[in-house]
Amino acid sequence: MRTLTGITPSGTLHIGNYFGAMRPAIDAQARGDCFYFIADYHSMTTVTDAAERRAHTRGIALDWLACGLDPLTSVFWRQSDVPEVCELMWMLGTLAPMGLMERAHSYKDKTAKGISPNFGLFAYPVLMAADILLYDTHRVPVGRDQRQHVEMTRDMAIKFNLAYGETFVVPESVIRDESAVVPGLDGQKMSKSYGNTLDLFGEEKATRKKIMGIPMDSRPPSEPKPDAAQNLAIRLLQVIAPAGLALETEDRLRVGGLGYGDLKKILFEQVWTHFAPARARRAELASSLDHVETVLREGAARARALAEPVLQRSRRACGLR
Ligand code: TRP
Repeated sequence: MRTLTGITPSGTLHIGNYFGAMRPAIDAQARGDCFYFIADYHSMTTVTDAAERRAHTRGIALDWLACGLDPLTSVFWRQSDVPEVCELMWMLGTLAPMGLMERAHSYKDKTAKGISPNFGLFAYPVLMAADILLYDTHRVPVGRDQRQHVEMTRDMAIKFNLAYGETFVVPESVIRDESAVVPGLDGQKMSKSYGNTLDLFGEEKATRKKIMGIPMDSRPPSEPKPDAAQNLAIRLLQVIAPAGLALETEDRLRVGGLGYGDLKKILFEQVWTHFAPARARRAELASSLDHVETVLREGAARARALAEPVLQRSRRACGLR
């Protein structure tokens, strides 16, 4: 059962990304046969600054390796190190109906937001299909917003198999559990677009400031708070802190006597210590970027070894050879 997912190199990760997407992906490694790549070709549809792309790609590699992606257990590479994916994209593109492409939500959303569309943005789902089909993938864990792209991938795989004979594994999407959503500092879902995030590897001072600035109501510390379970700091503790500590703090808030300042101090300590080991690993990795580059290249070599036969099979199937 091969699991594959692409990671868009789009800047700083927040703890919502960590609990929603990274941790499940990292835990999935225990089941084996996991493939993760940094989708740098995809980033070209929106980012046109070379230095920025390079920096984000490196940052994402550091983040994921620091958080426990094990490049020996899993295959971890940079998409563009296996450029064969572009050839497969062409083959699949010839089977992607215009009507279907024009109905893609993410394309429609981006153009609706005023992003002037380029061919790459339009073809995004075809490249994504090539990413998935090139590695005989069975399962594709993605957020809800990417479900349609996996549906389109299935459509292209089925069409190809019908037109040219059984060639591709038809993959399934595995939609991420939305109950794992982490609340942001304003109580809505934590999301970059709401500006309510807590960075995964932010500076200590900035992190403390953000947490101490979480707005609370004006009830005095001594007043019991029967609604303690809905308190934002408590909800964040439930995600981050050991279960015992989260419960104990919730009880202290409920019965009265715990002030909001002290509550936020507890939250800061928990956030800071939760990510301390990953932070240390990230600093160590950042000081040996050559090693990180080697890890990505070795990952690409392993990925290519699997991609090559699939590509040959596809070429033969459609009569290119
Ligand atoms: N489009 C995905 C996202 O924005 C990233 C991605 C690129 C991807 N290629 C993929 C995800 C292949 C799964 C499989 O999250």
